[in-house]
Parts: sequence; C-alpha cells; structure tokens
Amino acid sequence: MGISENARCKGCVDFFTTDSSKNAGNTLCINEYFWTVWRKKGAQDLCIGFSEVPLFIERTIQMNENTKQLLAMFEESLAKADSSESLEQLRVEFLGKKGHIAALMSQLKSVPNEEKKAFGQAVNEVKQEIEKKLADAHADIVKKEEQKLIDSAEDYDVTLPMDIDMGSYHPITVIQREVEEIFRTMGFTIEDFSEIVDDFNCFEALNIPKHHPARDMQDTYYLSSGQLLKTHTSAAQNSIMKKYGAPLRAVFPGRCFRNESTDACHENTFFQMEGIMIDEDISISNLIYFMKTMLSEVFGQDVNVRLRPGFFPFVEPGFELDIQCLICGGDGCPSCKNSGWLELCPCGMIHPNVLNYGGIDTEKYTGFAFGLGLTRLAMMKYGIKDIRVLNSGNLKSLSQFIGK
Ligand code: PHE
Repeated sequence: MGISENARCKGCVDFFTTDSSKNAGNTLCINEYFWTVWRKKGAQDLCIGFSEVPLFIERTIQMNENTKQLLAMFEESLAKADSSESLEQLRVEFLGKKGHIAALMSQLKSVPNEEKKAFGQAVNEVKQEIEKKLADAHADIVKKEEQKLIDSAEDYDVTLPMDIDMGSYHPITVIQREVEEIFRTMGFTIEDFSEIVDDFNCFEALNIPKHHPARDMQDTYYLSSGQLLKTHTSAAQNSIMKKYGAPLRAVFPGRCFRNESTDACHENTFFQMEGIMIDEDISISNLIYFMKTMLSEVFGQDVNVRLRPGFFPFVEPGFELDIQCLICGGDGCPSCKNSGWLELCPCGMIHPNVLNYGGIDTEKYTGFAFGLGLTRLAMMKYGIKDIRVLNSGNLKSLSQFIGK
C-alpha cells in the first residue's frame, strides 16, 4: 500500500491509497480502503503506513466496536427468545422507531461528511443482519409452535359416531334455484341486480311518474342519498333491456322491501323473481305457456292457470295469474278460501313506454313480464302458514320444510 499525500478524494478530505496487491493502479479513497481491509482482515492491518492512527480511523474503530457490541447484545437476547411475542419485542427493541439501530442512525448527523457513507453502511449492515436473524428465528419458532399445538391436540376416538348435520338451504334459496333452472332450460339468462336502486329504475322507467298513486302501495326505505331499497324486481327491467337489447329472455330474482305492517301473510322483506321475454310477435299466449310450464315443473304436476285483469302501470294489458288450487283441485277448500283458485303471479304485456325507456324498438318488438312471488311460492310448496318464519333465522323451523 502506498499513500500519496497530495492526492485527495473528491468527496472527502482523506488521502488516496493505492492497493498494489489487487487493484494495481486503482486509487481508493482511504475510507473505502479502510472498510475493505477491515472487513477482510480486522483492525490490526489498518495502520500500516501511518506513523500514528489518524482520527477518522479511531472513530471508525470506535463505531465498529459499537456495532459489534450491539450485534453481540442482540444475539444474546435472541438466544433467549422462545416465542413469537418475545421475537416481536426484540424486533421493536432493536429495529423499532426508538430502537438501538435508530439510536445509532441518529448519530449520523454528528459524523463528519466524508465518513457519513461508511458510517451509514456499517449501521445498515448490522440492521440487515439483525433482520435476517430475526426472520430465520421467526420461521423456526412458528414451526416449533405449530408442532407444539399438534402435539398438544387431544387424542380422539375415530370410532365415535360423528355429527353429520351439515345444515340445509333456506326454502327460498331452494325454490329460487329450482325456478332458475327451469327458466335456464327454456333459454332465459339469469341476472342479478342491486337491492339499492334509484327512483328512475324503481318507478319512472316503469311508467310510474312522481306522485302517481301506484307509488302508494310501494312505500319503502329511502336513503339519505335519495336512493331506495327496491320495492319490486321490476326495478331491474330497464337496465337489463339496455344491457342486452332485443330479442331478450331473462329472469332476475331478488330481495324486495316495502313499508308493511307484518302479519302471517305480510312481510316488509320478501323475494320475487321477475321475468321478461321480448321478441317479434310475443303475445299473451307465450306468457301463459311459459307460466304454465314453469309452475307445472315446480309443483311436479300439471297446473291449470287463469288470467284476471290487474293494473300495473308498466304492463298493458296487465293480469293477475291464478293457479287452480292443488289441494282441492278447484272445488274450494280453506286453503283457497273456497274459490278454487290461488293468486300467484302478476304479469302482463310490457307497456310500450317501458320498452322505449329501455331503448327497444316498439315497432318491431313486443314482450311480456311477470313478477313471481318467490316467498309466496315457497309458502305454497312447503305449506308454510306464516310468512314471518322465512325471515326468522329459526333453523329448527326452516330446516324442517326441505329436509337435509
Ligand atoms: N312488480 C310488480 C309488483 O311487485 C309485479 C309485476 C311484475 C306485475 C311484472 C306485472 C309485471 O307488484
């Protein structure tokens, strides 16, 4: 090693040195030289060529003593750490905001500029070493802790009978899936729609302008944003028409909400399944055919249906579809209030205004819509007498209708 006293590093005030052995011809800043030798050999080789130990070397030796001590201290504590919590404490103690490394780093400002880089590097090295050791120890400890847990698990008797009660689907879910499947096989797509809708979708797009008396029957929960909880699945008609255009076959089940005084037949939260079919030459015959086919499938027997006039602003003509009572076969019994018929599904031919709102060409296309009461259907199919059971969350009651 040779030192040329008149050559100085650009970045620092220290001398250059030439490392004749390895990097012949290359000059190294004395600071870098110091670090290279220190790392490779240790302190005793550092002072060759100097008559007395320069101050920066003294400082650096001191700094290295500090980092060495810190590392030793860390290792001592690490050897004692035997849980994830103690490791975490150690991490905070050494690497945390107020930890030892941070304290060492805070000394950086008092270190002369030319030594800052070396100082920072040294602290970083210790920091990285601590991080690595902590990570290794953590992996080890987690493994040990898991094993401990496994070892401490109770032995159990595999021959004991086990509880195989896996619960059951809600009657509405069962009926919804059944009806979806029937419509799917008839070429309908199944759509989902939000429970929170705006006034346009729930009413205006369905030919129910503001202040129309038809809104009275469909009071609902209004949000401060002006949106509302949908009162019927018809609220999705407009979006679905815009999404697919014509021709179109879709069913869209959903939860609906209305301001209702509850009793055995009324609930403020209930389920419907809307269906629309739009194509050239769609007529009431198509509506009757699809409803009859679907209901016969659901009840597993041929059902008779009839249409009565019914008013809904979004269909023209509008109907109430009744099915002949399956209990008395139409003769009259308490279930059908002696009429022989049960009201099941409002429906009708989609009003041209509604088709127009949905961007459908009314010169070319017509369509039907129905709003099947899924809650009603489930009650009929499973003989549920009180609608409130369905939202009760009472597992005992709910699971008995459909078995396991
Ligand atoms: N949306 C209507 C209701 O809930 C039912 C309906 C749907 C009527 C489709 C006609 C056509 O009262």
